Amino acid sequence: MKARRFPAPAKFKVRQYKDDDFETLYAIDQLCYIPEIAYSRAELRWYLALRGAECWVAENAGTKRGAAKIVGFIVTTSRGAHGHILTIDVLEKFRRSGVGRSLLRRAEGELQKRGVREIWLEMATDNDGTIAFWKNRGYGARGRLPHYYPNGVDAFAMSKSLATRTLESK
Ligand SMILES: CC(C)(COP(=O)(O)OP(=O)(O)OC[C@H]1O[C@@H](n2cnc3c(N)ncnc32)[C@H](O)[C@@H]1OP(=O)(O)O)[C@@H](O)C(=O)NCCC(=O)NCCS
Repeated sequence: MKARRFPAPAKFKVRQYKDDDFETLYAIDQLCYIPEIAYSRAELRWYLALRGAECWVAENAGTKRGAAKIVGFIVTTSRGAHGHILTIDVLEKFRRSGVGRSLLRRAEGELQKRGVREIWLEMATDNDGTIAFWKNRGYGARGRLPHYYPNGVDAFAMSKSLATRTLESK
């Protein structure tokens, strides 16, 4: 039988954001979204400084030849039992290897520790791959927000209850 080759599993760790990461996160966000939706530096700074904001970054392990590199990040905020995912970004080259899932798991765990019982987010209705990501992680569409994005695209408001179900472990 012919042997099949599978891509090696990505090696990365999820850690808390540091101020030095800012420019890298800004650059990643510019690459992940079209210009109308990507955050300006001022917007990203504002979101990171929000009361209750938390940011987690995924960093690959680095090699003998290269330093560790940030490959994705997630920003959340919370108030009481309400959590909100502001953005999740993974560099295209590192997608579909579990980075997004790991970032989300960490962020959800930290939100739960803070007493959050329900997490909300908005996603563009034309972002086909992303809807599968959220549905697989237990998020359901709760409504449609017309012209939510600056380019006129609608958003789905999505949420997941942490009170009635355990965190996804996939
Ligand atoms: C959405 C995003 C964060 C996912 O990150 P990722 O690291 O690729 O996600 P994972 O590898 O952890 O994917 C976990 C699972 O989600 C689903 N999934 C993720 N991306 C998918 C896609 N494009 N199409 C279909 N399913 C997808 C799959 O079930 C996947 O598991 P599998 O690879 O074993 O099939 C990433 O695609 C991204 O940064 N996109 C651009 C920015 C963006 O749109 N962010 C979300 C805004 S709401």
